[in-house]
Amino acid sequence: MKVGIIGSGSMGSGIAQVAATAGHEVYLCDTNPEALQKAKDKLLKILNRLVEKGRMDDPTAKAIFGRIYFMNDFKNFGDTGLVIEAIIENLEIKQSVFTKLEEIVSEDCILASNTSSLSIASIAGACKHPDRVVGIHFFNPAPLMKLVEIIPAIQTSQEVLKKSRDTIDSWGKLTVLAKDTPGFIVNRVARPFYGEALRIYEEGVANVATIDWAMTDIAGFRMGPFTLMDYIGNDVNYVVTETVFRSFYYDPRYRPSFTQQRLSQAGYHGRKTGRGYYDYSEGAENPGAIKDERTGEAIADRIVSMLINEAADALFLKIATKKDIDLAMTKGVNYPKGLLQWADEIGIRECVARLDDLYDLYREDRYRCSPLLRKMAKMKETFYK
Ligand SMILES: NC(=O)c1ccc[n+]([C@@H]2O[C@H](COP(=O)([O-])OP(=O)(O)OC[C@H]3O[C@@H](n4cnc5c(N)ncnc54)[C@H](O)[C@@H]3O)[C@@H](O)[C@H]2O)c1
Repeated sequence: MKVGIIGSGSMGSGIAQVAATAGHEVYLCDTNPEALQKAKDKLLKILNRLVEKGRMDDPTAKAIFGRIYFMNDFKNFGDTGLVIEAIIENLEIKQSVFTKLEEIVSEDCILASNTSSLSIASIAGACKHPDRVVGIHFFNPAPLMKLVEIIPAIQTSQEVLKKSRDTIDSWGKLTVLAKDTPGFIVNRVARPFYGEALRIYEEGVANVATIDWAMTDIAGFRMGPFTLMDYIGNDVNYVVTETVFRSFYYDPRYRPSFTQQRLSQAGYHGRKTGRGYYDYSEGAENPGAIKDERTGEAIADRIVSMLINEAADALFLKIATKKDIDLAMTKGVNYPKGLLQWADEIGIRECVARLDDLYDLYREDRYRCSPLLRKMAKMKETFYK
């Protein structure tokens, strides 16, 4: 099967590498010739590096590169069996691309979007055959991140869902099934990792280095929230937060923070601009962590409880199965443990008590405990036996 990819940016070029490595001939299209050239250079560099490191032999790398055809439009996509769109995150532009694409591809070609925040139903809604549209959400960088969220729209046929999932599984990826709701699994459940950390910082409980220390050294995450936001880019992370907030009809649980908005407005995007929560310029001295165990534990407990609440609520609202929710967070964003498994270890009653303490203090809807956790605590249930 030939695979078409539209958009050769960070995601499109990575997905092209994955599909070509799995043996497909890939048509990689981008309307911007510079972006296409950049993708070509980048792919060649990555494949060469794999050869240098001894992870791949030279003929294999050459064969993979030889299977990717670079093009400025998708008029040759007629013989593709699957097209994955990875262009700019704009609904009108995506809808227009899908409408034009339908005039070129065959009837049984699956049309997928790699969107992070738009509804798959809204993209499918612009198509003549909405039953063939599905969400296939890769994580950045696509060749390295094992997780892929598969998102059927209400219009998607079971056959298309099965075929697209089977295809991505055959590429060596780990697929999870997510309901077509804002942020799908990962970008929804992960919100408190940033949001609650920012809230703790805004309240003056601790500085950013201390919160990062608590989340890495005490809670066991690979990167602290502020280091991670500086890595992702405060501009990018802020927009995702704002989009999720708006998409949830302004549920206070997802409210963005002024701290991050100001950083974004000031151009303090993080590593890429040399300044974010931390100053990355040469010789800069950043305030260090104040390693007080009690404060650190309180910070870690608060953020982890909010993450668990979000994961439990995602399960409560049938966004995904408990297995997929735990897999998504461990394989998609490298969490040290599945959040529902973590809830069992802490104890469901303890999780509820921590959330209720926060709610009692703040009286904000943001801290409302998921009905599922409350019900489970009452019935003395656990997520896993
Ligand atoms: N960057 C991430 O971490 C990430 C992760 C998962 C999903 N996504 C999603 O993937 C999509 C792409 O994101 P990205 O980060 O790769 O963006 P990007 O800006 O790096 O690349 C987008 C590319 O699409 C091209 N393009 C724009 N309009 C086009 C059109 N009409 N036809 C063909 N090409 C067109 C642009 O020239 C650009 O090269 C978005 O929907 C985004 O939400 C991004």
